[in-house]
Amino acid sequence: MSDAPRKSIFSGFGNWFSGRIRFYYANWITSLGSVLAMVGVALLGAALVGHLVNMGMGRHTNPYVNMVTFMLLPAMVVFGFVTVGVGVWVQRRREKEPKKHTVAIEVGGPEFIRKAMLVGFLALVALIMFGSFGYEAYHYTDSTDFCLKVCHTVMNPEGVAYERSPHANVACVKCHIGPGADWFVKAKISGVRQVFAVMGGTYERPIPTPVHALRPARDTCESCHRPEQFQGSELIVREHTETDRDNTQSVTAVVLKVGGQPLPGLRATGVHWHVDPGNEVRYRSVDEKREEIAEVIQKTPDGEVRYLADWADPENTEGEWRVMDCIDCHNRPTHIFETPARALDEAFAGGFLDAGIPWLRREAERALMEVQPDEDTPAAIAAFLESAYAEDHPEDLDALRAGLADASEHLAVILERNIFPDMEIVWGTYPSHVGHMGLDGDYQENGGCFRCHDDSHENEDGRVISQDCDACHNIVVERETDLEGLPDFVSAVLSR
Ligand code: HEC
Ligand code: HEC
Ligand code: HEC
Ligand code: HEC
Ligand code: HEC
Repeated sequence: MSDAPRKSIFSGFGNWFSGRIRFYYANWITSLGSVLAMVGVALLGAALVGHLVNMGMGRHTNPYVNMVTFMLLPAMVVFGFVTVGVGVWVQRRREKEPKKHTVAIEVGGPEFIRKAMLVGFLALVALIMFGSFGYEAYHYTDSTDFCLKVCHTVMNPEGVAYERSPHANVACVKCHIGPGADWFVKAKISGVRQVFAVMGGTYERPIPTPVHALRPARDTCESCHRPEQFQGSELIVREHTETDRDNTQSVTAVVLKVGGQPLPGLRATGVHWHVDPGNEVRYRSVDEKREEIAEVIQKTPDGEVRYLADWADPENTEGEWRVMDCIDCHNRPTHIFETPARALDEAFAGGFLDAGIPWLRREAERALMEVQPDEDTPAAIAAFLESAYAEDHPEDLDALRAGLADASEHLAVILERNIFPDMEIVWGTYPSHVGHMGLDGDYQENGGCFRCHDDSHENEDGRVISQDCDACHNIVVERETDLEGLPDFVSAVLSR
C-alpha cells in the first residue's frame, strides 16, 4: 500500500502504523478478513439504527431479518477478525522473521498513552457492540416468536395447539430447554442443526414424537408444579352427543383420583402415586412411539416387580428403557391435538353446532375424517355434507341446508386447528396419553394408560397391572341420556 506521511506530529505513530499496514496488507487473507469485519460492523450499525427506529415506532420486526442481524452479522465480524489473525500468522511464517518489536516506545510516555487510549477505545466499542448484540441474540433465540416464526411451517401446528392450551403463556424454552447452561448449549447446537434442516427442507414430516432428547420433566415441569401439591379428586363431567338421528345428548361423569403426596413422608395415592419419590416405574417399549410396552419394572422398597406383556417374548430384550415421569402421561400438556369425537361433543355442548339438524353429529364426524383443509375448507365441508345427506338422508336435506353455512364454518375451524397437510399431520398423529379413549370417543385398547393397565402385563406370580376401573376413578354416570335423573352435583356443572 501507499506510504503514510512521515513528518506529521504523530510521526512516531505514523511510522508504526504504516509499518503495520504494509505488513498486514502484504497478503490477501488479511485484506479479505478486514474487509469482512469492516462491512460487518457497518451493517450491524445500520441494522441497529433500523431496529431502534422500529422499536421506537412500536413496529413488529421481521424474525428473518432479526435472525440475520443478530446471528449472522456478528458471526461475520468475528469471522473477519479471525481471518485477519490467520493472515498475520501466515505472513509471519512467510517472512521467516522472528516476531520483532521494532518501534521503540517508552512505556508510560505520551506515545504509549495515545496508543493505549486508541486500543482501549476500539476494544470498548467492540465489547459494547458484541455484548449487546450477543445479549439480544441470546434472548431472541429464546423467544416464542423465534420458535414459531423462523420455522413457520414446521412449528405452526405446535404453535396453533399451544395458543389454545393452558400453557399458552409459558415460553417454549421453559419446557424445551429449562434452566442451566449445559442444556442451553445443547439446545442451541441442536437448534443450529434444525435451522439448517428448515432451510434445506430436510426435516421430517410430521416431526417425530416422542421427542427423545426432551429435557427430563423433573427439571422443567416441576419448576412450576410441585407434585406434592396434588391431592384429592377431580370431578370430570363430559357432555356427549350420540350419533343417532336426534343427536341425543348424554352425560358422563367420573370422579378421577388425581391424588398425590399429601405431606412429605406420607405415601402418595391415586394417579400421582406414579410420581411419589418412593415409587419408580420403568418400562421397555419396542416401538419408536413408546406405545407398545413389552416390559414394566416397578421398584418398591422390597425389591423389584417385573411385568411382561402376554405378547412379549421373554428372551427378546430389545427396545428402549425409560423411567416414567410426567411426560409419559402428560405428553400433550400444551400441543393438544383433539380427537374428532371430543371436538364435536364440545362444539355441540357449546352451541356451535345445531343439534336440531338430524344426523349432524354423525355426518360431521365423517366430514372431519374425510375432508382435507384447503383454500376454502368451509366450501369443501359443505359439499361433503350435501352429498352425504343426498345419498343417506334425503328426507333431512332441507334441514341441513338451513344450517349448512354455520355448521361448515365451524367444522372448518376444527379441521384447520388439527389437520396440517404441509406437515402431514392427520387425526391421531399426536395422541394424548392421559386416559384411554380413541379418535371415535370409544375405549381404545392399548392406548394411554391402557398401554400398561391392560390386565395382560403379568408378573411371575400371575399378578397383572390392573385395569380395575375404580383404581383410577369412580364412574358416576356413563353416557346417561336421562338428564333429569342426574345427581345434583353433576347437573350443577352442565353448561345448559
Ligand atoms: C408446558 C410445556 C411445553 C411448552 C410450553 C412447549 N412445549 Fe413443545 N412439547 C412439550 C412436550 C412434553 C413435548 C413432547 C411430547 C412427546 O414427547 O410425546 C413437546 C413436543 C414438541 C414438538 C415435537 C412435535 C410434537 O408435537 O410432539 C415440537 C415441534 C414442539 N414441542 C415445539 C414447541 C414450540 C414451538 C413451543 C412454543 C410455541 C413449545 N413447543 C412449547 C412441552 C412443551
Ligand atoms: C413456567 C411454568 C410452567 C411450566 C414449566 C409448566 N407448567 Fe403446567 N401449568 C402452568 C400454569 C400456570 C398452569 C395453569 C393454567 C391455567 O389454569 O390456566 C398449568 C397447568 C397445567 C396442567 C393442568 C391443565 C388443565 O387442563 O387444567 C397440567 C396437567 C400441567 N400444567 C402439566 C405440566 C407439565 C407436564 C409440564 C412439563 C412438561 C408443565 N406443566 C410445565 C405452568 C407451568
Ligand atoms: C400416571 C400418569 C401421570 C403421571 C406420571 C403424572 N400425571 Fe399429572 N395428572 C394425571 C391425570 C390422569 C390427571 C387428571 C386429568 C387431567 O387433569 O388431565 C393429572 C393432573 C395433573 C395436573 C392438574 C392438577 C389438578 O389438580 O387438576 C397437574 C398440574 C399435573 N397433573 C402435573 C403433573 C406433573 C408435574 C407430573 C410429573 C411430576 C405429573 N403430573 C405426573 C396423570 C399423571
Ligand atoms: C409404563 C406403564 C404404566 C403406564 C403407562 C401407566 N401406569 Fe399406572 N401403574 C403402573 C404400575 C406398574 C403400577 C403398579 C402396579 C399396580 O398397582 O397395579 C401402576 C399403578 C397405578 C395406580 C395405582 C396406585 C396405587 O395407589 O396403588 C394408579 C391409580 C395408576 N397406576 C394410574 C395410572 C393412570 C391414570 C395412567 C394413565 C394416565 C397410568 N397409570 C399409566 C404402570 C403404568
Ligand atoms: C389406569 C387408570 C384407569 C383405568 C384402569 C380406567 N380408567 Fe377410565 N379414565 C382414566 C383417566 C385418566 C380418565 C380421564 C381422561 C380424560 O381426561 O380424558 C378416564 C376417563 C374415563 C371416562 C370418561 C371419558 C369421557 O371422555 O367420557 C370413562 C367413561 C371411563 N374412564 C371409563 C372407564 C372404565 C369403564 C374403566 C374400567 C374398564 C376404566 N375407565 C379404567 C383412567 C383409567
